[in-house]
Parts: sequence; structure tokens; C-alpha cells
Amino acid sequence: MTLSPDRILIIGGGHGLGFALVEECIRRFPQSEVLATYRREDFALPLLNSKATRFKIDPLNETEVEAFCRDLGQIDLFINAIGVLHDDKVQPEKSLKDISIEKLTYEFQVNAFITPLWAKYLKKKFSQSTISVFATLSAMVGSIGENEIGGWYGYRASKTALNMFIKNISIEFERSRLKTSVVAIHPGTTHTELSAPFLKGIKHKVWEPNPAANNILDVLLDCPEEGTGLFKNWDGRNIAW
Ligand SMILES: NC(=O)c1ccc[n+]([C@@H]2O[C@H](COP(=O)([O-])OP(=O)(O)OC[C@H]3O[C@@H](n4cnc5c(N)ncnc54)[C@H](OP(=O)(O)O)[C@@H]3O)[C@@H](O)[C@H]2O)c1
Repeated sequence: MTLSPDRILIIGGGHGLGFALVEECIRRFPQSEVLATYRREDFALPLLNSKATRFKIDPLNETEVEAFCRDLGQIDLFINAIGVLHDDKVQPEKSLKDISIEKLTYEFQVNAFITPLWAKYLKKKFSQSTISVFATLSAMVGSIGENEIGGWYGYRASKTALNMFIKNISIEFERSRLKTSVVAIHPGTTHTELSAPFLKGIKHKVWEPNPAANNILDVLLDCPEEGTGLFKNWDGRNIAW
């Protein structure tokens, strides 16, 4: 049961992995409708010139999210590609002395809270009769089982919280008889703005965004076969929660 989606929604589609996912969905499914949201216009110029149906939305503004989802038709594949590791508000914390309530709150808002907020308004858009996938880009560092080196308090813990949200959403969707596979996926280390300052000295492979997007799609499209409430690596293996 491989998913062949007619309608795809990618939030955080303005650049990085989100935009690569938009491009690869358009390439793989030329007959399908690909909808993409972005926040910062100046970072989303390639998206604005793409064939995707674009919407400028603040993904944390519940009023905007509700209004956008209200008239949306059925969705077969949803991917949240939003995340923050560093920006003008936060840098990954190396030690406890670096944490603050303000910064942790912001990291949790962006990395953890967006997925359940969108699930709240998208739940009705998934079908009880045809298969679908609801996915979010998580991170290996959010795995408690695989945490051996510590650090990055807010990013790690917010991705762990995101994973719990995914597990909970999977249970609620299943109880509502939706044929939706709900998945957190680690995309693999990829050259993007998010990773750029942290790539020096990395020994494992670093992907370009488009091959990484293809890895992600290969795994997600096969997830309905496996079930729901999954934490997947880009190569298809299951990651310890
Ligand atoms: N790159 C990697 O190596 C790697 C590894 C593991 C996991 N991931 C995960 O993959 C996902 C995509 O990351 P990426 O590498 O593609 O990074 P990216 O190029 O920096 O893209 C980040 C996305 O998040 C949005 N975003 C950031 N801060 C936001 C905020 N405060 N409010 C709303 N939206 C915000 C950005 O939109 P705007 O610019 O429009 O705000 C953009 O769409 C993230 O969840 C990340 O944690 C990436």
C-alpha cells in the first residue's frame, strides 16, 4: 500500500528541506495539487516562482491556521518542515548556564507546538476510506534512547516533545478511524541554513536538500504499509523514541 497522493500540503515550504520537498512532490506527482505555506517572503523567492499553490501564513497564529484550513479540501500527504536550531532569538545551548525560560519557550513553540496545532484543524481533512500520511520533520537528537552526548537542550527536548505529540496524534487519528499514518522522520544531516554553522568536522554523509527530500518521500509514501505512530530515519529504519 504505497501512497500516491492527489493533494499534498507542505508547511515551511519557503526554503531548505521544505522547498526541496515541494519541488520533489511536483516532480513525482505532476497531476497532483501541491500546496505550500511560507512565512518570510524574502526567503521564499524560488517557491514563489514554482508551480505550487502558495500561502503566506504564520504557522503559530491559530486564527490564521484555522482560517486557512477551513475551506481546504481533502489532504492525502501533510508534511511539517518547520524547525529552528538557531536564529536571532536562539542558539543551541551547550550547557545549563545557556538556558532561559524565554528561549526554551520559543524553541518549543516552533519545534513542538506547530504540529499539534495544525493536526487540530487538519484532522477533518483526512479520509476514513483512503490512505494518507501526516508527517513532521523531527530530528535524531530528539531520541532519548540515542542521546549519548547531551547539549542542545531546547532543540533536543522540543523535538522529543514533538515526537510525543506525533504518538498522541497517531492514537487519536486511529481511534477516529482515519487511515492516516502519523510519522516523525529524521531527514538526515542536510545542507540548509539550519545546519550550516554546525557541519564542520562531521564525519557522516551530509545530503543536499533535493536528494534528502527524495529519501524522506521514499520512506513516508511506504509508511501506510507499516502502520502509524512511527519515528523513522531517512533510510527507513525505526529510531528509538
Ligand atoms: N538540515 C538538517 O541537517 C536537519 C537535521 C535534522 C532535522 N532537521 C529538521 O528539518 C526541518 C527543516 O529544516 P531545514 O534544515 O530545512 O532548515 P531551514 O532551511 O532553516 O528551514 C526552516 C523552516 O522553518 C521555518 N521557521 C523557522 N523559524 C520559524 C519561526 N520562528 N516561525 C515559523 N517558521 C519558522 C522557516 O520558515 P521562514 O524562514 O519562512 O520563517 C523554514 O521554512 C526542521 O524541523 C529541522 O529541525 C534538519
